[in-house]
Amino acid sequence: MTSKIRFTADNTVRHETDTNYGKSLRLITVGGAGFCHIYHYGDDTDNIYIEDLSVKEINRKIGIGTGLMAYFEGRGRKHGFKYALLRVLRDSWMYEWYQRLGYILYQEELGAGDDYVWMRKSL
Ligand SMILES: CC(C)(COP(=O)(O)OP(=O)(O)OC[C@H]1O[C@@H](n2cnc3c(N)ncnc32)[C@H](O)[C@@H]1OP(=O)(O)O)[C@@H](O)C(=O)NCCC(=O)NCCS
Repeated sequence: MTSKIRFTADNTVRHETDTNYGKSLRLITVGGAGFCHIYHYGDDTDNIYIEDLSVKEINRKIGIGTGLMAYFEGRGRKHGFKYALLRVLRDSWMYEWYQRLGYILYQEELGAGDDYVWMRKSL
């Protein structure tokens, strides 16, 4: 699907933090349809982590999730990161969607009984 949504700093509300542990950006689209959080650890210049991607139920399936992913990946690329990582339920349609976006299985989650896995994409 081609994203119908183009995110810019102007159409989002952002909360950025910069601490000894690293930097973090929480972003919600104006109108409140989509939310996502991206962060990286201060001593790690290779990897960015994308988490808590959420789109309001009535606004789903029109490209907002795809647009947010593209926005964050672009931002990571622009800042010189090599990989984007995320955690997802292995047995879910989202796992397959992330595969379509170019993510590959990176690491099985440690801990018995946990069905989540890490996926990673080269930026
Ligand atoms: C996951 C989520 C963010 C997707 O947001 P969205 O704005 O609806 O996503 P898009 O419209 O950009 O669609 C993305 C792709 O997923 C597919 N898709 C969307 N909803 C789907 C569903 N319920 N079942 C199967 N496929 C689905 C779309 O067809 C599209 O596929 P394509 O790019 O190959 O055409 C949204 O469903 C959500 O908030 N879910 C609850 C929170 C959650 O589980 N987050 C993920 C954490 S890993």
